[in-house]
This record gives sequence, C-alpha cells and structure tokens, in this order.
Amino acid sequence: MRLIMLGAPGAGKGTQAKKVAEAYGIPHISTGDIFRANIKNGTELGKKAKSYMDAGGLVPDELVCDLVADRIAQDDCAKGFILDGFPRTIPQAEALDAAVAKLGCQVDYAVNVDVPDSVIVNRMGGRRACVGCGATYHIEFNPPKTEGICDVCGKELILRDDDKPETVQNRLRVYHEQTQPLIDFYEKKGVLMTVDGTRSMDEVFGEIKEKLGE
Ligand code: AP5
Ligand code: MG
Repeated sequence: MRLIMLGAPGAGKGTQAKKVAEAYGIPHISTGDIFRANIKNGTELGKKAKSYMDAGGLVPDELVCDLVADRIAQDDCAKGFILDGFPRTIPQAEALDAAVAKLGCQVDYAVNVDVPDSVIVNRMGGRRACVGCGATYHIEFNPPKTEGICDVCGKELILRDDDKPETVQNRLRVYHEQTQPLIDFYEKKGVLMTVDGTRSMDEVFGEIKEKLGE
C-alpha cells in the first residue's frame, strides 16, 4: 500500500502517519524529519535546508525530489510506504508520479487530514518534539508522562523553531498557495481520501482505517 499524507502544517500528518505505518507494517517517510536530522548532523543538505525551514518557506524542489525517489526505491519500501510532508508542490507530485511509475506502481491513497487554520495555531503552540528521537507530544492533547521529558528515550522536549506563532502564519500561507492545489490533483486521479482532522487522534485514525479497509 502506497500512501501520501496531505494537510496543513500541524494538521496531524505525522501523528497519523506513524499509526498507519505501525498498523500496516510499512515505513513512515517524513521529509521534514529527514531535513531536521540533516540539520542536527550538520550535513550539506541540512545547511541548505535550514534557512528555508526557519522562515516557514519550502525547501526548493530540487533538494527534495531525488531524495524521496531514492528513498522509496529502497528494499524496505517494496511492499509500500507512507509519505508525510511530500509532495508539497505540483512539480513534486509530478516527480513522485515518475518515481513510482519507474518502480512499476502508483500512489494508492492520498489521505487529506482536514483541519481549519484556527485549530492549527493552537496545536502548534502546544506541540513539543524530542531532541533525541523526534517523537512528538502536545502539552494538552498528548502530554508526556513527565513534563518536558520524552517517554520513549528520556531526552528533552522542545518547541520546534518553526512552531513560533509568526512562522506558523507563514507556513499556513505557503500551504494554501503551494500545497492545497494537490487536493485537486489527487482528486482527479481518484485516490483522494479526506478525513476530519479536528477529532481526537484515535477517532481520526479510526476513520482512516475504516476508509482504507485493508
Ligand atoms: P514538516 O515537518 O513536514 O512540517 P509540516 O508540514 O509543517 O507539518 P508538521 O510536522 O508541523 O505537522 P503535522 O501535520 O505532522 O502535525 P503533527 O502530527 O505533528 O516540514 C517542516 C519544514 O520542512 C517545512 O516547513 C519545509 O520548510 C520543509 N519541508 C518538508 N518537506 C518538504 C517538501 N516536500 N518540500 C519542501 N520543503 C519541505 O501534529 C501537530 C500537533 O498537534 C502535535 O502536538 C500533535 O500531538 C497534535 N495533534 C495531532 N493530531 C491531533 C488531534 N487529532 N487532536 C489534538 N491534537 C492533535
Ligand atoms: Mg510532521
């Protein structure tokens, strides 16, 4: 099963993608996580991506398309994968089409997690991410057992640099301009699945599972 997650920043793509990956035994590939790992490790890619991310803009297509094409061609993706945060522009969606065609397959579902902007702003301010393993929490909706400490690896939880209110507004603007058109793109292909992302995490996952029906 080959899926992509669509949705505004903070809609819950990462939260749901992790659950789907675990339930269906497929790798979860988040381009945002890949960039953050590269920034943390001080790689050339990380250095190039950082300024765009900190400003809430998109990293240029040429830095992300080949990276994803290589990743989904790896052995662990043979039975499927879930892409989270890619594609984000029409050229990226076209590059993904070409990459999956080369592998002799197609995107089976585009899961659109639908959440209005007003809900997003509250979610982002409360999100905390682990500096060690990248696990995410929410101070109100999904708190860790001990405040400020990751349940999984025991490292510190922080507010992501791009979750500051002014950057969130820019990310939302970029989403509406560049990524929202992908909803039409995948609807025309007949693979769009829209779920109500304002409900609880488990309810959203329940709706996804029911609609996947596999
Ligand atoms: P990326 O890391 O992909 O960020 P994003 O799309 O802005 O999405 P987020 O990770 O912020 O939100 P999410 O939808 O995963 O929500 P989450 O599950 O965490 O990208 C970061 C940057 O990298 C981009 O801005 C760009 O610069 C660059 N980039 C990445 N990919 C790129 C690409 N393809 N092309 C170009 N540039 C790229 O949930 C949010 C919070 O809400 C959490 O605290 C969570 O606990 C909580 N929550 C989740 N679901 C619920 C619920 N149902 N109810 C209550 N709370 C909930
Ligand atoms: Mg995410």
